[in-house]
Amino acid sequence: MTLKPSPENILSLGMSFWNAKALLSAVELGVFDALAEAPAGLAMLRDKLGLHERSARDFLDALVALNLLEREDGVYRNTAETDFFLVRARPSYVGGLLEMANARLYESWGHLTEALKTGRRQSENKEEGDLFAALYADPERLRGFLAAMSGVSAGAANAIAAKFPWAGYKSFVDVGAAQGMVPVTLAQAHPHLTGGGFDLPQVQPIFDEFVAANGLSDRLRFYPGDFFAGALPCADVIVMGHILHDWDLDQKRLLLKKAHDALPSGGALIVYEALIDDARRENAFGLLMSLNMLIETSGGFDYTGADCQGWMTEAGFSHTRVEHLLGPDSMVIGIK
Ligand SMILES: C[S@@+](CC[C@H](N)C(=O)[O-])C[C@H]1O[C@@H](n2cnc3c(N)ncnc32)[C@H](O)[C@@H]1O
Repeated sequence: MTLKPSPENILSLGMSFWNAKALLSAVELGVFDALAEAPAGLAMLRDKLGLHERSARDFLDALVALNLLEREDGVYRNTAETDFFLVRARPSYVGGLLEMANARLYESWGHLTEALKTGRRQSENKEEGDLFAALYADPERLRGFLAAMSGVSAGAANAIAAKFPWAGYKSFVDVGAAQGMVPVTLAQAHPHLTGGGFDLPQVQPIFDEFVAANGLSDRLRFYPGDFFAGALPCADVIVMGHILHDWDLDQKRLLLKKAHDALPSGGALIVYEALIDDARRENAFGLLMSLNMLIETSGGFDYTGADCQGWMTEAGFSHTRVEHLLGPDSMVIGIK
């Protein structure tokens, strides 16, 4: 007897934007912040969050059903996970990414079909060729974007700190460091390391503030610059996280060449991304990230570990290897 196929997976995937938007609105409304102050019943929480009486119960109970809140005897509280990761005041907060997804990407992804047909970016200031020029024209968006990057890179930063053989190196520069999550994590984990972050000059105050808040201003510094205009700062190790995927193939090759030029013999380049698996059939997040680059940038795309190893070899690196980090993220290491 052949089983009748079930449409369940197809329909749940097609409607999964409901789940995503419920979570994004919960972060925007500060549900998890309110419950971190004190668990609360429906009426109190509705009041605190400014929810309409028509929506409050269904919304909060939907969050319970999505395992984002717990409810016992009518009292709502955060789960251990949401209390750790989604309370703004905690250093472990990763909601910056979700705030950006809510404020920018959710709407831009509404134009995916157009992007698929035209190949053109769909996020704000479409006429601006460069995502960063478009983003950084507004200081609030700049700050939001850089904080979002910390959310994206926090897990990978811990894994890079643990998995790369740092004992053999003294200095590093994170190229395109944003707020500085990777430099801070590496410096905290390895007290012998010094280094810093290279990024556009507008990023400096936000980087310096984050480094100072983590008590690392004596070991980490900011290098202002445009990586297409000049040389990269020299260091034993150069890190590039979520950088290459922003750019087209010629720009990727140019950045790899500049990294090679800035390293000493024996130095290492660490490129990390949500690398697409070599067979391009498993890492859905990596493939969708590449479509996110279609939505966000003029020529950017994600790539496989084998692609990156090939470009590194062309740039002059003598050994390359790929290592999994965490979830969808992996790193490609190139040794000069
Ligand atoms: C997608 S973010 C990645 C941030 C961080 N490495 C991470 O993984 O979370 C790209 C970074 O590259 C920086 N950037 C963009 N264009 C640049 C340029 N021309 N020169 C230097 N940095 C640039 C941006 O300011 C931003 O911080």
